[in-house]
Amino acid sequence: MGNSLDAVPLSGIFRIRDLMYGVSQPFRLDHGDISFDTPAPIREAMKRALDAGETKYVQTGGLPRLRELLAEKLRVRNAIPVSEPDEILVTAGGMHGLYLVCRAALDPGDEVIVPDPAWGPTLGHILAVGATPVPCPLRPGLDWRYDPEELRSSVTPRTRAILVNTPHNPTGGVLGRADLEAIAAVARERDLMVISDEPYEDIVYDGARHVSLAALPEMHKRTVSVFTFSKSHVMTGLRLGYVVVKNPELRARVLKLISLTVSNVSSVIQHGGLGALEADQHWIAANRAALEARRDRFYAGLATLGDTLTGSPPAGAFFAFLRIDPAWEPPGGLVPGRSQSWAMAEHLIRQARVGSIPGVDFGALGEGYIRCCFAREPSELDGALASMREVLL
Ligand SMILES: Cc1ncc(COP(=O)(O)O)c(C=O)c1O
Repeated sequence: MGNSLDAVPLSGIFRIRDLMYGVSQPFRLDHGDISFDTPAPIREAMKRALDAGETKYVQTGGLPRLRELLAEKLRVRNAIPVSEPDEILVTAGGMHGLYLVCRAALDPGDEVIVPDPAWGPTLGHILAVGATPVPCPLRPGLDWRYDPEELRSSVTPRTRAILVNTPHNPTGGVLGRADLEAIAAVARERDLMVISDEPYEDIVYDGARHVSLAALPEMHKRTVSVFTFSKSHVMTGLRLGYVVVKNPELRARVLKLISLTVSNVSSVIQHGGLGALEADQHWIAANRAALEARRDRFYAGLATLGDTLTGSPPAGAFFAFLRIDPAWEPPGGLVPGRSQSWAMAEHLIRQARVGSIPGVDFGALGEGYIRCCFAREPSELDGALASMREVLL
């Protein structure tokens, strides 16, 4: 018997991940995981919590102290005018936060303007609740930012929300204040909510600064901001995130969904979050500098691979979104009906043991690209580049 979830595609990220488990000595540039260790204060706080018996049910919306510290962080670092910790709800990572927000805010038939390309799971969250993602192009010629007129013309009477993701996965594009002002203007004029997905808030290069959309005038009340500890605090597998919801009705629905899905986010992991926020968090700047060096190392190596894969260093996040030479075909030619980006990703896995994600998995405009993650150890990046060189040159 069918179910509406059958129409929701499984992101290619998970299909590629499964393929990679079959590769011996792989170069894992496919998934967005960081090779740094989880900082010691976070690990110590979790160990202390375990030993102190902090293993019981806790408050549905999150530990009060954690929400207080998050409110402070949001006010100081994101300039979001949070008035009380209750506006924050703790989730099992950004993925869980996005799902809860889509389920709580959207109804079947609603349209949500999404970037094209976009991180696949977000589209899945929208489809899973019976709403429709409406792609709006991010233009490579604009450093993967919107043309504001295209964004404005994507709005229809059915549009309920605009989904914004900056810094952006998969392109690494960063929306500056003027870009966000333009989005905010459309949201205000057309009375839309904004879902602002900011997992890479701390990973912006070349001295630039991340701007949170909810920090713009009048935008906190119509924005739901989705944050995670995954990337800033190297906690990808631990699953800790939070959403910031000003609107009380929407917040009550998200809280209800937390109780229905996880009851509360793991108590021990929340203590890890406390450990992060109570420490001086020097790792954020150190990791950003290390990632910037890895970005530069990766692109310097890429320049020696010929013209099959090309691209410019991204402004944020830790992905290289590389253009495939339109004339490239795998040995034996392209299989009819098979996209070039899947052919390239499979070719690199089979011949070079290098994982990457086919661009088409991120939307129609992603076709002709692959995404490589450079948040890996320098030795893994060098090995991947050497292996790609043998296959592509
Ligand atoms: C664009 C985007 N949003 C949200 C997330 C969610 O991250 P997590 O569920 O690990 O907190 C990710 C993770 O890769 C992402 O790339």
